[in-house]
Amino acid sequence: MTSIQTSSRSPSARPEITADLEARTGLDEAVLRELVHAFYDKIRKDPVLGPIFAARIDDWPPHLERMTAFWSSVALMTGRYHGAPVPKHVGLPIDWGHFERWIMLFRETATEICTPAGAAHVVERAERIARSLNFAVQDARGTGIPNLA
Ligand code: HEM
Repeated sequence: MTSIQTSSRSPSARPEITADLEARTGLDEAVLRELVHAFYDKIRKDPVLGPIFAARIDDWPPHLERMTAFWSSVALMTGRYHGAPVPKHVGLPIDWGHFERWIMLFRETATEICTPAGAAHVVERAERIARSLNFAVQDARGTGIPNLA
């Protein structure tokens, strides 16, 4: 049975690991929720990335909830996210330049909202996932070697 422990601030399938990550990074569900909301506020105003999201997302609250669960899983290992990001990105009109812009806004927001250790923790993971999403997007497009420049 999955255990949900109340001593951790984030309900987690791995409460001890989550509590340790929270202590080391200063991140918790509330901080990640604030990060996600602030980040997508910037994304929506961005002249390059904003229109790509606007064309696909009508109802923002469920997307923001999903992204908070995603970051809870990625940063705190809570297992809250059950989804498949790759198919949602394959077919988007994006290349590595779009991912670089996404990362730049994410880093800026994380630096504003998180502790230095927390920002470093999420940015490192965002960069890694961005590279793998870019690989999947370019690979599906059949352009040969993905554009990692
Ligand atoms: C150029 C950069 C990116 C663009 C334009 C983009 C765009 C989008 C869009 C439009 C959706 C909603 C898709 C839908 O519901 O049909 C989405 C979902 C999502 N994105 Fe991205 N994205 C980008 C980068 C990233 C990165 C770097 C990450 C992770 C670090 C990420 C994680 C996710 C996740 C977890 C979802 C939710 C998938 C689900 O439905 O479970 N995205 N993205």
